[in-house]
Amino acid sequence: MEQMSDVGLIGLGVMGENLALNMERNGRKVSVWNRTVPGVEEGVVQRFMEGRAKGKRISGYLNLTDFVYSLSHPRVVMMMVRAGEAVDELIGLLTPLLSEGDILIDGGNSDYRDTERRVTACRAQGIHFVGAGISGGAEGALRGASIMPGGAVEAWPVIRSLLKDIAAKAADGTPCCDWIGPGGAGHFIKMVHNGIEYGDMQLIAEAYFLLKRAGNLSNDEISHLFSRWNEGRLKSYLVEITSAILAYKESDGGFLVDRILDVAGQKGTGQWSVKSALEMGIPFGLIAESVFQRIISALKDLRVRAAQVYDISDNSPKIEALLSITDLEQTLFASKLVAYAQGFDLLSEASKRFGWNLDLASIARIWRGGCIIRSVFLDELAQAYEEIPLLHNLLLFPLFSAQIKDALPAWKNVVALAVKEGIAIPAFASALNYFYSLTTENLPANLIQAQRDYFGAHTFERTDSMRGCFYHEDWISLK
Ligand code: 6PG
Repeated sequence: MEQMSDVGLIGLGVMGENLALNMERNGRKVSVWNRTVPGVEEGVVQRFMEGRAKGKRISGYLNLTDFVYSLSHPRVVMMMVRAGEAVDELIGLLTPLLSEGDILIDGGNSDYRDTERRVTACRAQGIHFVGAGISGGAEGALRGASIMPGGAVEAWPVIRSLLKDIAAKAADGTPCCDWIGPGGAGHFIKMVHNGIEYGDMQLIAEAYFLLKRAGNLSNDEISHLFSRWNEGRLKSYLVEITSAILAYKESDGGFLVDRILDVAGQKGTGQWSVKSALEMGIPFGLIAESVFQRIISALKDLRVRAAQVYDISDNSPKIEALLSITDLEQTLFASKLVAYAQGFDLLSEASKRFGWNLDLASIARIWRGGCIIRSVFLDELAQAYEEIPLLHNLLLFPLFSAQIKDALPAWKNVVALAVKEGIAIPAFASALNYFYSLTTENLPANLIQAQRDYFGAHTFERTDSMRGCFYHEDWISLK
């Protein structure tokens, strides 16, 4: 009789295939199944079995029941399918075949609220549902990803060694995977990871834009600069690939980056993080701006028309002299700190609100390897939350406040230069304004409160009275 499999994987897209190969490489016998849409996805399992899975301890199934019955108990099934209805449909097909104590892992980018609902619904049927955020793209899935599992904690002792084995290892050898918390915690953390990813990417893009437009540097020069920055405190996967992208040439010698249309796509997780920040009252301007920049990038025709109306051309004379590379490095680093301060504020608020008891230091450590935002900076970030677990805001951590103070003159110079020269750097500016607002003891919100009370009797608190006492002024009769 054929040996039972240790784990089942459903969904043979590139992520699913790579995860199955990763599990097998790590000593697991794997069963795979793919939902077949007649005429569209026929032959997916066969192709994988005859191709990349050939000669490996991987068994392909064309029938879901056979697939489920090939798994040893308690069964562990990982689903790598498109987030949304496909996950619910699959759960509907699987649950009648599963037994009490079996484990279902959703490794896609699901909405954390869907995961909360699925954890509860599966629990009622005796099945342990886990929503695992997985970051690292196709390469991470194959060689080691950053994995953020949350949901039914009963599953953790069973899946711990599997997930830690297939996870990336940080420089100190620690697996980039740990239990995050109950309900939708794992997917929430992945969503915030993606929000920060949007911020990091937009900031790097703005640095590139300034170097090109204000610095008049060539792609090769910018590529060299990013690779130099990648040896310092900005060392990160995204800076590294930016350097490689800028140096990449097509067969005719032309730079590919110059031939890519400036219209950015998005699949939704960045937007979700911004919506959550709005719902929870967390200032999230830099990340929101990064999402809006993708949206405005997509309005290509409108931008072309507007550029004509205002007679602004990409070919207008360059203003090379004033941009300091050192200032730009400072600006990029300080703004990056703001992106993480906003992301971690959202995590900390969600932790309180949902009672998740998130370990923010552990989350920073999980992101040190495998994921898209991996960077040396996350070591310092983990250290901040280890030293002060209830840190109110990252910018208050002494190491970071010293770095911000040091960067401030440069940050102001770069933002001022770009604004004066008409170069769009909304994320750098948003980050600086967040810093200004955060550090302003008396904002003009007194006037907003007065206006609200004037036109709508919305009341206000007074500086000469206790917090929590609200007053209304009869403004009109005062006239
Ligand atoms: C990751 C990525 C991954 C994916 C995003 C891209 O961590 O591996 O974040 O999840 O690349 O979904 O998102 P957009 O299409 O929205 O840029």
